[in-house]
Amino acid sequence: MKVVIPGGSGQVGTILARAFHGDGHEVVVLSRSARKAPWGVMTWDASTRGPWTKALEGAEAVINLAGRSVNCRYTPENRGAITQSRVQSTRIVGEAIAAATRPPRVWLQASTATIYAHRYDAANDEATGIIGGDEPDAPATWRFSIDVARSWERTLDEAAVPRTRKVKLRSAMTMSPDRGGIFDTLLTLVRRRLGGQAGDGRQYVSWVHETDFIRALYWLIEHHEVEGPVNIAAPDPLPNAAFMRGLREACGVSLGLPVARWMLELGAVFMRTETELILKSRRVVPGVLTKRGFTFQFPRWPEAADDLCRRWREQNTGARRLDREQRDGHKATMKAQGE
Ligand SMILES: NC(=O)c1ccc[n+]([C@@H]2O[C@H](COP(=O)([O-])OP(=O)(O)OC[C@H]3O[C@@H](n4cnc5c(N)ncnc54)[C@H](OP(=O)(O)O)[C@@H]3O)[C@@H](O)[C@H]2O)c1
Repeated sequence: MKVVIPGGSGQVGTILARAFHGDGHEVVVLSRSARKAPWGVMTWDASTRGPWTKALEGAEAVINLAGRSVNCRYTPENRGAITQSRVQSTRIVGEAIAAATRPPRVWLQASTATIYAHRYDAANDEATGIIGGDEPDAPATWRFSIDVARSWERTLDEAAVPRTRKVKLRSAMTMSPDRGGIFDTLLTLVRRRLGGQAGDGRQYVSWVHETDFIRALYWLIEHHEVEGPVNIAAPDPLPNAAFMRGLREACGVSLGLPVARWMLELGAVFMRTETELILKSRRVVPGVLTKRGFTFQFPRWPEAADDLCRRWREQNTGARRLDREQRDGHKATMKAQGE
């Protein structure tokens, strides 16, 4: 099958492109810059139609992941770019699908598990979950993320594409051992003994192992009866303190200094990011997937963390060995040239 992935050059897109390509499917990533990849890449500007629209013809699925990263300070300028990039790219993907002669059978549109309310009392599934925005104890920056998710989903709803099924991917943090990803960042903190609980540690963490993320997307492509919002999260979200403990145990680090809320607020300013990514309680469960029979290979965090740590070590040992070999090779060349 052919799968088109606008914004597929980032963390999640790379996980998906690698998996689909590895399984022998045709993958076309849409990127704002020409880049080399083992799969197809076409350029687009994420706001107007162009030659890229041809890629949609006869595709089985389009998976739109485009949008400016939310890992930044929510300044007025960044807020504008975060919202605009998501709304505009979703709108133009919709227009291109509507104009296609043989449109994709399914449009899987990125949204986020952050759309749900900050809460501890009960888990949010698609049917009974509370959409956030009115929590009395949530700072205004958290409301911003919910506004973004709502406008993103509204743009998908407004797209008139009667021949294409629409699915909203309300995804939790996707965990893979890749360099620079969320798991890599968390593990680096843990290895530096900074992986204690954040704040009071009660806030829930929703997550999904990359293997299940890929399997869920295959499942959604194949299940023609499923449309609308779908939570892509493991069925076992857990409080931050337990989540960090699980990660420390998986990588064999006993000490993890707790980080108080005020330290996080201060650190976030220096790191040009927002504490929402750590302090908001995201208690999200996969109602649609589990009710319809999808089973998770990694439903619980301890096993998922073990697997991710093991693969992270393998990758990084391999990468270090390669670096060493390249350095040694370089030294030998220099020596030979000097002689
Ligand atoms: N990572 C997660 O666990 C997670 C969880 C929930 C939701 N999500 C959502 O899923 C999507 C993909 O996540 P990700 O982690 O892969 O994000 P990412 O690494 O930031 O990648 C997103 C891609 O969007 C493109 N992009 C960046 N700025 C843009 C702009 N101004 N206009 C149009 N395109 C732009 C970039 O591609 P080019 O530079 O090649 O154009 C980039 O590679 C995001 O929208 C994210 O909010 C992610």
